[in-house]
Amino acid sequence: MSSYRQELIKAIMERDPAARSAWEVRMLYPGYKALMSHRRANWCFRHNLKFLARWISERAKKRTGIEIHPAAKIGRGVLIDHGMGVVIGETAEVGDGCTIYQGVTLGGTGKDTGKRHPTIGRGVTVGAGAKVLGPITIGDHVKIGAGAIVLKNVPDYCTVVGNPGRIVRGPATRPDIDLNHGDLPDPVADRVQAIESKLEMLELETEEQRDCEACPRENCPMKKEKMK
Ligand SMILES: CC(C)(COP(=O)(O)OP(=O)(O)OC[C@H]1O[C@@H](n2cnc3c(N)ncnc32)[C@H](O)[C@@H]1OP(=O)(O)O)[C@@H](O)C(=O)NCCC(=O)NCCS
Repeated sequence: MSSYRQELIKAIMERDPAARSAWEVRMLYPGYKALMSHRRANWCFRHNLKFLARWISERAKKRTGIEIHPAAKIGRGVLIDHGMGVVIGETAEVGDGCTIYQGVTLGGTGKDTGKRHPTIGRGVTVGAGAKVLGPITIGDHVKIGAGAIVLKNVPDYCTVVGNPGRIVRGPATRPDIDLNHGDLPDPVADRVQAIESKLEMLELETEEQRDCEACPRENCPMKKEKMK
């Protein structure tokens, strides 16, 4: 089982083509730094060290431009790319494997109390500058377009764009990234197999029905075979 840190570095290396090495990610990536700080801040928050938790998160904000409330729940393997201007509110939840670009707000509308920030599913992409507001639920593998303002629940595998956010794609049946290459369907092989079975059936039927004596073809190999 890999550690949170390793999963974070792997996610960044896999999804950011500009990331050249794990060392570079650890030293220079604001998303990495902010999420590692958030892990510490969240631990402090859960152990009733609220002031220390806020201090860690404020310090991370100054260093990275990414503000994550210590109480926010962030999954594993999340990529915060560029990061500047990202704000993630106190009751927000972000699922495993999400990608969040700069300028994203996972915030409240100002009308709700208690749970007032969104819950984001697994593998969601939130485009640059998008605002997801209120205690809404965004399904797994949803894509939120850059600049979208999303105020309503979104089902799994949809694409949402615009202001107010509207669904322009989906729900699709499977995620875009399916790395299980050993288990891909092969339509050509399936078709060939179907044709072969049909041929076999036809051959059997013809064998049974063939009346070689009445057949007019002189040079038919089947006829010669039967007449022997
Ligand atoms: C939304 C997005 C994820 C594409 O998702 P997709 O499911 O592949 O959708 P498509 O590209 O097929 O676009 C669907 C429709 O929405 C429109 N659209 C796409 N992105 C949009 C956006 N951000 N705002 C408004 N409309 C958008 C497309 O023009 C298209 O319209 P059409 O059907 O009338 O032609 C992508 O456009 C996007 O915004 N990504 C964010 C990336 C980002 O923030 N990068 C920053 C890097 S620094």
